[in-house]
Amino acid sequence: MSSIKACIFDLDGVIVDTVPAHYIAWKTIANELGIPFDKTQNEQLKGVSRIKSMKKILALGNVEMPEEEIKALTKKKNKIYVEIISKMTPADILPGVEDFLLTLEANNIPKAIGSASRNTPTILKCVGLTNRFDAIVDGNVVSNSKPDPEVFLKGAELLGASPADCVVLEDAISGVKAAKAGGMKCIGVGKPEILKQADLVIPDMTQLTLEKIQNL
Ligand code: BG6
Ligand code: MG
Repeated sequence: MSSIKACIFDLDGVIVDTVPAHYIAWKTIANELGIPFDKTQNEQLKGVSRIKSMKKILALGNVEMPEEEIKALTKKKNKIYVEIISKMTPADILPGVEDFLLTLEANNIPKAIGSASRNTPTILKCVGLTNRFDAIVDGNVVSNSKPDPEVFLKGAELLGASPADCVVLEDAISGVKAAKAGGMKCIGVGKPEILKQADLVIPDMTQLTLEKIQNL
């Protein structure tokens, strides 16, 4: 039995399904540049910061451009994305999430958000979850993006837990790598063949139980 004392949740793809919105926005930008972009390539962008994602797309098309233009495109992508996500409501919280938050609360297990997204405050507000987390660490406060463990290490620190006592819930390859690099347990949410480094993979959040965390 493990000694899990705290839980850190990724946001996009774990708490809310913003993956399609990111995909639509990135695909619009990529196609405007004449760069083909599909869901397999989008998989590689999960968990990756906005600017790094833009640079990965440009690399796919062997396109080079000045830093200022890259920033302008990134801004354009975010405008498309925010237009979609700002319409989110509590109904967009992924199945299983609210029940699991209640379980953690009933067992006095502190929880944090550890996300690369600079839109974290907007999303949490739209879905009504801002006040449910003991700490929120997002792309606005970290300097190194996943797979660097900074976002999760900061979360653990704010929760007053040592990394070895934390479990991270992640849907991204980069996020699983970040959790493991930080010395934490990691439950992947998605497909085992993609989230290979996770300690356990569940298909979705309805499959998460306290028992599974304690047995890691
Ligand atoms: C991550 C997403 O959570 O946040 C990535 O998985 C996204 O796809 C990154 O690029 C940054 O998000 P945002 O909202 O700051 O552009
Ligand atoms: Mg994610």
